[in-house]
Amino acid sequence: MSKRIDVKDLNVYYGNFRAVEGVNINIDARSVTAFIGPSGCGKSTFLRTLNRMHEVLPGARVEGEVLLDGDNLYGSGVDPVTVRSQIGMVFQRPNPFPTMSIRDNVLAGVKLNNKRMSKSDADALVEKSLTGANLWNEVKDRLAKPGSGLSGGQQQRLCIARAIAVSPQVILMDEPCSALDPISTLAIEDLIEELKTQYTVVIVTHNMQQAARVSDKTAFFNIAGTGKPGKLIEYGDTPTIFSNPTEKATEDYVSGRFG
Ligand SMILES: Nc1ncnc2c1ncn2[C@@H]1O[C@H](COP(=O)(O)OP(=O)(O)OP(=O)(O)O)[C@@H](O)[C@H]1O
Ligand SMILES: [Mg+2]
Repeated sequence: MSKRIDVKDLNVYYGNFRAVEGVNINIDARSVTAFIGPSGCGKSTFLRTLNRMHEVLPGARVEGEVLLDGDNLYGSGVDPVTVRSQIGMVFQRPNPFPTMSIRDNVLAGVKLNNKRMSKSDADALVEKSLTGANLWNEVKDRLAKPGSGLSGGQQQRLCIARAIAVSPQVILMDEPCSALDPISTLAIEDLIEELKTQYTVVIVTHNMQQAARVSDKTAFFNIAGTGKPGKLIEYGDTPTIFSNPTEKATEDYVSGRFG
């Protein structure tokens, strides 16, 4: 179920602006990979190219290849909607559908994929996804209530339940804890630990401790100046990136000397 991602010579554009340049990276299956780097270096932009969310913006385009277990997501004839169902995404701000019930929020992605299912199958999927997102016990008695009635941390776990309900192969998370309190943040971090036994997880974070705690590998991105493209500077095992990086820029960033 879990798949690896290999990125080859990727350039990412907004119109004429090259926001990210020349990325080559191999992301392991069943592991957590963290993307770190200063604001504006292209972490979110690059992350969105991994499930073809980038190109929904007018003028936005990509050069290069993103291979999911060897298959190019940008190959001719590949349907971006199918790609997005295989590679789920969780955003910085929890974005449940506010008027939809907790139950229907979990099923929203599945229904979008036009899967018909019986009520009992749907019930089982709701329970499984909410259990997988560590939220079941907190919401099992209020499944018909709106998703907007949950706390921020619960809403973020609801969004994770919605993402895993479609059985993706990869889960991309863009600063999933930045709007959360420390307790909810730890709950999400525990959940990420569990998710990696089944999924390939990529997380963008500004929190160095979080990257060090949850990730197996870390990629440091940087930008030479305003208007310049972001680049992948260094990528490796998380302990190495944090305690013994090769590049001076990486060391300056992880030790808090800049960024
Ligand atoms: N929709 C857009 N249209 C044009 N330029 C964009 C768009 N989104 C981002 N950019 C530009 O692309 C560059 C990279 O932005 P991106 O949001 O990927 O950075 P980031 O590393 O995620 O930053 P942060 O840590 O602040 O979230 C920036 O120069 C940004 O201004
Ligand atoms: Mg960002």
